[in-house]
Amino acid sequence: MNAPIGVSLIGCGAVGAQVARMLTEHADELRQTSGCRFELRNILVRDPSRSRDITLPSKLFTTHATKLLADAGTQIVIELAGGTDHAKTLILAALLAGKDVITANKALLALHGREVFAAARKAGRCVAFEASVCGGVPLIEAIRRGLIANRIDAVMGILNGTSNYILTRMLENNASYAHALAEAQAAGYAEADPTLDVSGGDAAHKLTILAGITMRAACDFNKINVEGIEKIELSDLTAGDQLGYRCKLLAIARRFDDGLDLSVQPTFIPTTHPLANVSGPFNAVSVYGHPIGHTFFYGRGAGGAATASAVVADLVDTAIGNARRTFERLVLLPDQTPAATYRPTGETACPHYIRVGLRDQPGGIGKLATVLGSHGISIATIVQHEPPQSVSSAAVPVIVTTHPTKERSVRAAVDDITRMDVTQSPPISIPVLDERES
Ligand code: HSE
Repeated sequence: MNAPIGVSLIGCGAVGAQVARMLTEHADELRQTSGCRFELRNILVRDPSRSRDITLPSKLFTTHATKLLADAGTQIVIELAGGTDHAKTLILAALLAGKDVITANKALLALHGREVFAAARKAGRCVAFEASVCGGVPLIEAIRRGLIANRIDAVMGILNGTSNYILTRMLENNASYAHALAEAQAAGYAEADPTLDVSGGDAAHKLTILAGITMRAACDFNKINVEGIEKIELSDLTAGDQLGYRCKLLAIARRFDDGLDLSVQPTFIPTTHPLANVSGPFNAVSVYGHPIGHTFFYGRGAGGAATASAVVADLVDTAIGNARRTFERLVLLPDQTPAATYRPTGETACPHYIRVGLRDQPGGIGKLATVLGSHGISIATIVQHEPPQSVSSAAVPVIVTTHPTKERSVRAAVDDITRMDVTQSPPISIPVLDERES
């Protein structure tokens, strides 16, 4: 029997506990399929007494990073603590100490990937990160291995389980935003700071990583046009439903002749599109490449058990030497690839949904149509609903859909609509995925 491979964990939250469970309760199955015997040696946590999803010998827990870093028996360190500062320090120290690293930390890789990967190369170690994008969906592996022969022109997907769960629950159960968010948190889908989920930040971190390996260029997180789901109301979801759309927080990376266009935005997707039917905490990603054409990946993108599946896959890959070979041989990571060039902001065109609350007085619709026309925006449909009868001063909701329009024209029009004297509640615009383009 091969010698055991020493593994230490940084963090033991929702994902860490499930990884520990797989390494202890499923050790025999893992040994049979991979030929690897893993030995869980240390778990670095802030508070060893905290109640966890699994009961482990207390001697495994430590609050001292040096115990883990100086442990000669630890060959692989798995970082699941999250955050960017302390996690980066620990990962760099682990690499320097001669350990390979596995991480699910998308924020760290999106913001400091170049530095982390370069440090690993310098130390002759590797970093594996399947769990950083789409939890349990083996997307990084599929792109790096299965799609390596392709030139990839577009990647679009639902990369955040929490926001997808919220949008799904609101529409299906007439649930409030706050209630749906609390449910997602209780199920362990949300980040420690759920603002990252609902603001689009988490999806943008993942898109930075995904765009990097698909477009083969080092992408800058700050170049992504990011909008969250905070301003979406139940009335938008029901109006979209009547128009034949589902609202999803959609992350898109597209290659154009004048550069990459990267965005994370609430987007209406025609219900005939496979992405429209991705519900709850599930993630899905469509990758379009040459020569393969369309591919589609689907699965649980959040939650301890699903994410642990990706972490343990990386663990086996690292233990048998695949991760190291891939890391050393393929030229896909931001410390190796050229810096991306970007399409000017707002140049991409698609239909839009615009909702605004107007005062119930003559000429309101006329003023709205005039503003849209002044920005060259052609109206496809317009619906004005009765104001709620119980409130005499309530705004009249008006919903417009447009023909394909450049994003920058819509933004300028929305600014002007906000300033109209007949506007009572501020407008929002939501792009509509144009199936012909996608
Ligand atoms: N908070 C993330 C999500 C979990 O909801 O998708 C994994 O990144």
